[in-house]
Amino acid sequence: MRHLIDPMDLSVQEIDHLLEVADDIIANPVKYRDVCKYKKLATLFFEPSTRTRLSFEAAMMELGGNVLGFSSANSSSAAKGESVADTIRTVGCYADIIAMRHPKEGAPTVAVQYANVPIINAGDGGHNHPTQTLTDLLTIHREKGRLNNLTVGFCGDLKFGRTVHSLIKALTRYENITFIMISPEELEIPEYIKKDVFEKNGIPFRQVRTMEEVMPELDVLYMTRVQRERFFNEADYIRLKDTYILDMDKLTTAKKDLSILHPLPRVNEISVKVDDDPRACYFRQALNGKYIRMALIMELLGVSADEN
Ligand code: CP
Repeated sequence: MRHLIDPMDLSVQEIDHLLEVADDIIANPVKYRDVCKYKKLATLFFEPSTRTRLSFEAAMMELGGNVLGFSSANSSSAAKGESVADTIRTVGCYADIIAMRHPKEGAPTVAVQYANVPIINAGDGGHNHPTQTLTDLLTIHREKGRLNNLTVGFCGDLKFGRTVHSLIKALTRYENITFIMISPEELEIPEYIKKDVFEKNGIPFRQVRTMEEVMPELDVLYMTRVQRERFFNEADYIRLKDTYILDMDKLTTAKKDLSILHPLPRVNEISVKVDDDPRACYFRQALNGKYIRMALIMELLGVSADEN
């Protein structure tokens, strides 16, 4: 039985396969509409979500399966003190596969120890968000036609942004990626990413304080929101929240084929005027999230369209 907890749980070959399946789903959706008939996905969200939960549920529905679950800890017995272990044991009686989001880093790793069905980490605290990473890789591949030879700028809250941590880990396995980290000092990438991911693998990275100074170099600009829910101090959040706002002026020096990604939700860090620019990929990215999750659900359940 396979689980997906960390983006590194998948080999590059397995990721390539998932991207190919997602591309095929986009091209031939009818082929996949009964692949998960009679299967059930449980979405256990102990933390808020729009895209991840709803795209998982839409993915299972488009595969012909059914969904059940909860969208907040308060509407589950976690509010009465039930442990993750007991929740997983129980939900494993009702569902064939579980996608869970939890505010505590490592909660999905605990879940795996008690699971009798595949577990997908749909985000754990400030740690990992592997299905967002698959979404991002599919988006970059569809927009740029490649996952190597790219200069990627990560901008915003690089300290708490789990999507950034997961995508960095995944991209280190591709050839000739130039990593540029754009953040205030307080929101730099964590030390463990610097040491265990970049330095351990001999991968150089640059840290800068403004997006303007690197804009002309970038093939991909990955914008992020400052993660209010992870701050201990509201005053620090207020001081840092509007450090970076991408607008049309800042894009004047950007490449014509720049791809602007954002895992969303957006708060204030991308002007809505940018949305109409063809370089804005973030709503296409949200759509891609459904297709890659369809591919992942099939893979973890061991089903394929060829069996139909
Ligand atoms: N990208 C993402 O995880 O969005 P949600 O928090 O809405 O799921």
